[in-house]
Amino acid sequence: MSKKRILQFLRAVTARVSTEDAAYVERYLSSAVQPLFFAQSVPDQCHALRAARNAEAIAQTAQDTVDVSLLIRCALLHDVGRKKGDLGTFGKSFAVLFAKFCPALARDYGNGKRSGVLARKMNVFFHHAEMGAAMLSNIGFSQEAEIVRKHHEAPADDDPPELRILRMADEIS
Ligand SMILES: [Fe+2]
Ligand SMILES: [Fe+2]
Repeated sequence: MSKKRILQFLRAVTARVSTEDAAYVERYLSSAVQPLFFAQSVPDQCHALRAARNAEAIAQTAQDTVDVSLLIRCALLHDVGRKKGDLGTFGKSFAVLFAKFCPALARDYGNGKRSGVLARKMNVFFHHAEMGAAMLSNIGFSQEAEIVRKHHEAPADDDPPELRILRMADEIS
């Protein structure tokens, strides 16, 4: 397992959301969308907060004009498709290893060709971006939904700067 993955795992099992973090979420997310943020597991909430703060820092060095509020909202919400209980820290670590060492079989589990608990977990692992985007567009956050939908897709020339920065921030968070 890479050093980055081990660090992610250790952070996840020791994660806490501070009052300062909660205030940050309240500042950037309206009450309409906050329930989606807080429906995530605590380790995912902490990951999203790190992603938002890293995204803010990257935006300051960016050449293009960035809508920083949109970027922060997207960073806070990018993994909401993965709700608390869907895929815990151990489940996520398992899914990462499963997808790495048995990619074809892992995809079968994730794409509805199998049933059961493992199939449901792999489905969330592979499809949380689309799931989160659907949840966001259902409550009228269509601009955020478009960016969240693509956060694990390969970069494209017409990607908005907020999506490019979100990918970089996600990678290091
Ligand atoms: Fe993600
Ligand atoms: Fe993420």
